Amino acid sequence: MTRPVTAGATTATAPPDVVLRPGPVSVPAGRRRPAADGAAFGEVFTDHMVTVRWTAADGWHDAVLEPFAPLELSPATVGLHYGQSVFEGFKAYRRTADRAAVFRPLAHARRLAASARRLALPEVPAPLFVAATEALVRQDMDWIPEGDDRSLYLRPVLFASEAHLALRPARACLFVLIAFPTGNFFGADARAVTVAVAEDHVRAAPGGTGAAKCGGNYAGAYRAQEEAARRGADQVVWLDAVERRWVEELGGMNLFFVYGEGDRAELLTPPLTGTILPGVTRDALIVLARDLGLRVTEAPVALDRWREDCAAGRITEVFACGTAARVTSVGRVLGADGPWTVGDGRPGPVAGRLSAALAAVHRGEAADPYGWCHPVDRDPC
Ligand code: COI
Repeated sequence: MTRPVTAGATTATAPPDVVLRPGPVSVPAGRRRPAADGAAFGEVFTDHMVTVRWTAADGWHDAVLEPFAPLELSPATVGLHYGQSVFEGFKAYRRTADRAAVFRPLAHARRLAASARRLALPEVPAPLFVAATEALVRQDMDWIPEGDDRSLYLRPVLFASEAHLALRPARACLFVLIAFPTGNFFGADARAVTVAVAEDHVRAAPGGTGAAKCGGNYAGAYRAQEEAARRGADQVVWLDAVERRWVEELGGMNLFFVYGEGDRAELLTPPLTGTILPGVTRDALIVLARDLGLRVTEAPVALDRWREDCAAGRITEVFACGTAARVTSVGRVLGADGPWTVGDGRPGPVAGRLSAALAAVHRGEAADPYGWCHPVDRDPC
């Protein structure tokens, strides 16, 4: 059974006209749950989805939990033509057979709202975002896998659904929330990845959309990602657009540089200057690292310094982080003037310690002093 959830249930400031009502939530006959084990990232989706409509005239309305199914769209849908589209990625973790915990849904709601503002899309109210999340996680709770590093990945997308090709922001939009079970983004091995510095391509420029999670940022990265793969790398390192000197981020992940070892290790990460995605995992790791007594500095990191400090042994580890990949060590860098190795080229202890600390919060095995985990319980039958 799925109960109706009013979006206003979690805050007094919610718009009164948004109600998430269950649609026909039974899965159509013939659709069987395929094995999620071994599926690639984002390949096998759960049985349901949430859709919510917005129009300039009526605001947010028609919020429905319904079976996962294709959307019907006009070929003139503006989001397809002009890329007026933003998305998020966050996760629900299994706690018990009847309880899950969603990690920082409000932070993701806020980031989606910031992305929406940048792309001239309407903001999804945070209470609606959370109500949609609760409804889908509750309905498809049986899809949440068990085990370390396994979770239900939640993917909201908000796009201009109006059928028009005039160059103006759409007056009709659709918010869709889907989900899929996932394991480690880079496969089961806890290996350090190889990264290639993007030479000919730029991800984001000052004043652009780099801080927004919009589809165009990812499509624009594919060519560089393909070139990196040809060079034998797993991911691209993006440099700043102006001086082509400062390290910004890694593929779809933020980067941390570790100086020193043990309890005296210090972390350095590029600052959020508008061209870097403000990662929720990045933020969580800064907090957890400081709680572990590690110093964290947000300051620009030059590519030359990365190489020189690795050669001198000052940089002991580098790791990337994101919702999908959690914490992933970087073992080798392919630069224009040749490759270099980070530390001993293997996953480092600071990355391991932070990854474990984060996983313990995800799984409810550590205290959650910041209230990051949002519990969702199965409906009583
Ligand atoms: C994530 O880390 O969740 C992302 O959104 C990056 C990518 C998989 C799209």
